Amino acid sequence: MDLEEQIYTRKSCRNYVDDEIDLTIIDDFMNSTKQLNEDINYRYEILKLDEVNNRARFSAPYYLAIYTDKKENYMDMGFIFEQLCLYLQGIDIGNCWVGLASPKKKNSDFVISISFGKSDNMTRDLSQFKRKSLSEISDAEDERLIPAQLAPSAINQQPWYFKHTDDGFDVYKVKHNIIKRQFVKKWNEIDVGIALAHMYVANEDTFEFYKKANFENINGHIYAGSIKI
Ligand SMILES: Cc1cc2nc3c(=O)[nH]c(=O)nc-3n(C[C@H](O)[C@H](O)[C@H](O)COP(=O)(O)O)c2cc1C
Repeated sequence: MDLEEQIYTRKSCRNYVDDEIDLTIIDDFMNSTKQLNEDINYRYEILKLDEVNNRARFSAPYYLAIYTDKKENYMDMGFIFEQLCLYLQGIDIGNCWVGLASPKKKNSDFVISISFGKSDNMTRDLSQFKRKSLSEISDAEDERLIPAQLAPSAINQQPWYFKHTDDGFDVYKVKHNIIKRQFVKKWNEIDVGIALAHMYVANEDTFEFYKKANFENINGHIYAGSIKI
């Protein structure tokens, strides 16, 4: 199954049917995901609807709860688990990142949930994506950024910015104003990781992530790392 193809047809799924899913496919796929940083601790568990506090306006039969011990790992959580979302999409399992659902059993390491389940309403045409233009998300319009442009993000904020380098891009997170920041802070880290996952999936053989000591400061932006593609 081609993960990249899913980028152009996916949508956040908010209509599910109750069919059971063989959950072993998730562990199997998770063994093959790429990470941005190798030395991080994280784990996930799969919960049924009755095991989550759900404040979102829709519900799903299953929720994957993500846990990690450090805030610095949030971008990686987006990066790793968006690969899973694209995989699930490709095997007809709809999914949606949900900031507004958390496990009933409290745990301070909890980061975010992903709802998933069988669905018959989980694809769309390219024309139906609502996204910033390529020139808004980069210093120079570049079609190689379409996979990042189409990535999902919390309240569709698309808080990413790409600056060209010789062999790829320096990647920045857009800073929000103080009020918005309180609301979407940890989600923005996840969002940038999700956009990088799309860049990885579209450039699987060449993708590399690294951090520069000397990067350009851009007003209103925070340097997140650099990619070779
Ligand atoms: C970190 C994150 C948190 C999200 N939280 C919610 C949520 O709580 N409820 C919801 O309906 N959608 C949520 N979404 C889905 C976004 O609203 C959706 O990705 C965005 O509007 C773009 O639409 P698309 O995913 O269909 O392309 C979340 C997405 C991300 C990446």
